[in-house]
Amino acid sequence: MAESADGKGIEGIDLSKVPLHIGCVMDGNGRWAKRRGLPRTEGHAAGEVALLDAVEGALRLGVKWLTVYAFSTENWRRPPDEVRYLMGFNRNLLRNRRDELNEKGVRIRFSGRRDWRVPRSVLREIDIASELTKANRRLTLTIAFNYGGRAEIIDAVKAIVQDGVSARSVDEKMISSHLYYPDAPDPDLVIRTSGEYRVSNFLLWEIAYSELVFQDVLWPDFRAEHMYDAVREFQGRSRRFGGLDDD
Ligand code: IPE
Ligand code: IPE
Ligand code: MG
Repeated sequence: MAESADGKGIEGIDLSKVPLHIGCVMDGNGRWAKRRGLPRTEGHAAGEVALLDAVEGALRLGVKWLTVYAFSTENWRRPPDEVRYLMGFNRNLLRNRRDELNEKGVRIRFSGRRDWRVPRSVLREIDIASELTKANRRLTLTIAFNYGGRAEIIDAVKAIVQDGVSARSVDEKMISSHLYYPDAPDPDLVIRTSGEYRVSNFLLWEIAYSELVFQDVLWPDFRAEHMYDAVREFQGRSRRFGGLDDD
């Protein structure tokens, strides 16, 4: 797929069949910066505009759930300076954007482990933004932060064991109900930018039947138009869930 979007706006999209839930793996910030001779952190900074535009796109389409991958449980492997930058960046993003997101009817939620590695100042901003926006229902923006799909499954299994659930009672519903957000529908569509063809531990359980769209655009260049392209591609696909087409 080309790096630039088609520029067709929402033309050709059937608004009665937009994905209920879109997931985004926001990848390519470092390469975006490198191409410009800038430090990697500048790429993360430039990703803020892309995130806000993705939210605008979701609102325009009437998407109800948008989950974005901001920091994985594996991203702690990065140099300490970059990790520190990402922590501060996410904290400031929340602080600076929570009011405008709130005014737009966006509910902000966090998905991930609140472990000792996440600075308290970040946890505090997470709590403030979540509390401020908790009554909003136009769009639920879930920020996957210190998130790993395997960690989420491990945490679900632990909770199930702690609840004393018998082996006989373990089924898909039981596991789903112990994930971080049992109320969220599984993503219909997952978009990954930067031309990488992998899921990198994003929502492993939930994406069992998601449609995957890979785009070459680097995350800081991502705009609502790219989301529209992905939704057009999604609408051209036939989802069978293991069965057969209706026709
Ligand atoms: C995605 O961009 C942001 C995070 C993973 C936090 P990257 O930082 O992975 O950018 P590339 O993949 O190195 O270009
Ligand atoms: C996935 O991107 C994680 C986020 C976008 C937060 P990575 O850049 O960390 O993934 P890999 O290392 O290329 O698989
Ligand atoms: Mg990357």
